Amino acid sequence: MNYNLNSQPAREKKVSTISGLKSLLDLVSEEKQNLTIALCSILINSSLNLLGPFLIGYTIDKYIQTKQFHGVLVFAGILLGMYLVALGTSYFHTQLMGGVGQRIILTLRNAIFNKIQELPVAFFNENKAGDLISRVNNDTDKLNQFFSQALMQFIGSIVTMIGAGIFLLVINWKLGLATLIPAVFILIFTRAISPWVKQRNAQNLKSAGSMSAEIQESLTNFKVIIAFNRRDYFRKRFDLANRHNYQTAIGAGLANNIFLPVFGLFSSLAQLTVLSYGIFLIAEGNFTVGLLVSYLSYATNFYNPLRQLATLWTSFQVALAGWDRISQILTLESNLPVAEDQGQTASTAVMAFKDVHFGYPGGKEILHNISFTLESRKTYALVGPTGGGKTTTASIMARLYDPIAGQVLLKGRDIRSYTPAERAEKIGFILQEPFLFTGTIKENILYSNDQYADFSNAQFLEVLQAARLEALLVSFEKGLDTLVSSGGDSLSLGQKQLVAFMRAVLRKPELLILDEATANIDTLTEQLLDLILAQLPEETTLVIIAHRLNTIENADEIFFINSGEVTRAGSFKDAVDKLMHGRRTS
Ligand SMILES: Nc1ncnc2c1ncn2[C@@H]1O[C@H](COP(=O)(O)OP(=O)(O)O)[C@@H](O)[C@H]1O
Ligand SMILES: [Mg+2]
Repeated sequence: MNYNLNSQPAREKKVSTISGLKSLLDLVSEEKQNLTIALCSILINSSLNLLGPFLIGYTIDKYIQTKQFHGVLVFAGILLGMYLVALGTSYFHTQLMGGVGQRIILTLRNAIFNKIQELPVAFFNENKAGDLISRVNNDTDKLNQFFSQALMQFIGSIVTMIGAGIFLLVINWKLGLATLIPAVFILIFTRAISPWVKQRNAQNLKSAGSMSAEIQESLTNFKVIIAFNRRDYFRKRFDLANRHNYQTAIGAGLANNIFLPVFGLFSSLAQLTVLSYGIFLIAEGNFTVGLLVSYLSYATNFYNPLRQLATLWTSFQVALAGWDRISQILTLESNLPVAEDQGQTASTAVMAFKDVHFGYPGGKEILHNISFTLESRKTYALVGPTGGGKTTTASIMARLYDPIAGQVLLKGRDIRSYTPAERAEKIGFILQEPFLFTGTIKENILYSNDQYADFSNAQFLEVLQAARLEALLVSFEKGLDTLVSSGGDSLSLGQKQLVAFMRAVLRKPELLILDEATANIDTLTEQLLDLILAQLPEETTLVIIAHRLNTIENADEIFFINSGEVTRAGSFKDAVDKLMHGRRTS
């Protein structure tokens, strides 16, 4: 599955306006009641607005032409009342739809966030956080704008237009037809140009995403940037992204605003037609002044909403472009589904790799035909040169990725048949680059371990004591209550590794993988870690990836990993020889 959202084929051509609208409306299916009420309100509003010109024309012919001013006052009063009611309904449905829009944002942001949480590591390798944030924040807001502001106006405008059109044709069908012809041109023009407008908007949203990604990259790497004095370089990169976004915004603006003048032109043409043809009809005696006034008013009532529709149509195109970007995420499926249990093979091995091949998405093969077994209660060391494939092998053991070919067995069963919860319970993985969450040391040790969640500090210390972990707390000034800020930046790398170590060991996994987990810890503390590991329940299998020779000296078996091949080192001395040889040749 292709997880790179920005390299997916452009969808704007595939999704037609109608099916786009339909999928947008599916979004609001839970808001049926509010939509119906808003719809009724807008219908009342439009009918009142449509009735106005008719009453005005009637008043002119019946009362003004005959100088019965009492009647004029009565009708003026009625019209005022109608307009006030129209105002009320307009306010009402605007409020109602504002709420609908916000609820859509709420649901969509949750849906996208939940979806992202489901997706495998490969997805995060291929997409920049900044672009994803932009989709969650910016693109959902485009939909909110459409629903809270545009949708009801859209419907209201269409109702008013149809109503006005009917009045125009009923009052005088020839004049009506002449008035409506320019609208046909507008329709043809709009149809022809909409895909282009949507594409321009899609480009704009995309460049907003890239800009956001640029900001995110420099923010997460600010230390490197400052240390290497790369500020100018990043300034330039941001400037470039910002400029590109500016250009696409101008492009989108240009596209979005093209409707307005064109619509204006045709609506003026229509007014001109009514006026000249109407006066001609009056001169012939076939038409009254009152009717002409009503008529001009209806023509305005027809073309004004049409002009508004131009703006709304734009809002719709923007919403569609945003919705496309959102659905790209929502339609992704995890390529690490839980497979059906194919049954157990009789084996005492905790883990077995069978002819495993692996390559990162879009890249060349990294691991070639690897087979090995890890027996229960044993300690394994993985050694080899940097870039040889140790971390990759460990990631596959923990099913951060699936192999391209071959099979990984966990306790004799295909690892794909375990649920994420079962897998996390059996396998503990201390990453090469541990990540801590904002909070306290205690919260971080307890991360994804509900067992001791309600324990007081004193109770929890006892638990740590029993696991011999308590001694590790001395390096933290305030012990369990030491605060961790922004991803563990307030701690040293070694301290982070200690927390990650406690986090993993406390869960007592059957298979514990340590990826260079003690690389930044002093030798004394490391000896302490060795003691703790020796204290683990007997059935624990340990996989230690390390480059310090003393850490691997006690291993039962040593695997040598180089250029994506795994070989068994017969003895410690053999491993050292291989390592030295590998270093010399690489
Ligand atoms: N996320 C990734 N995407 C693409 N290639 C990767 C990724 N991670 C590692 N690699 C590549 O896989 C190879 C093995 O890397 P790794 O397993 O991290 O080595 P080691 O842990 O032994 O130093 C390297 O050539 C590296 O460039
Ligand atoms: Mg590594």
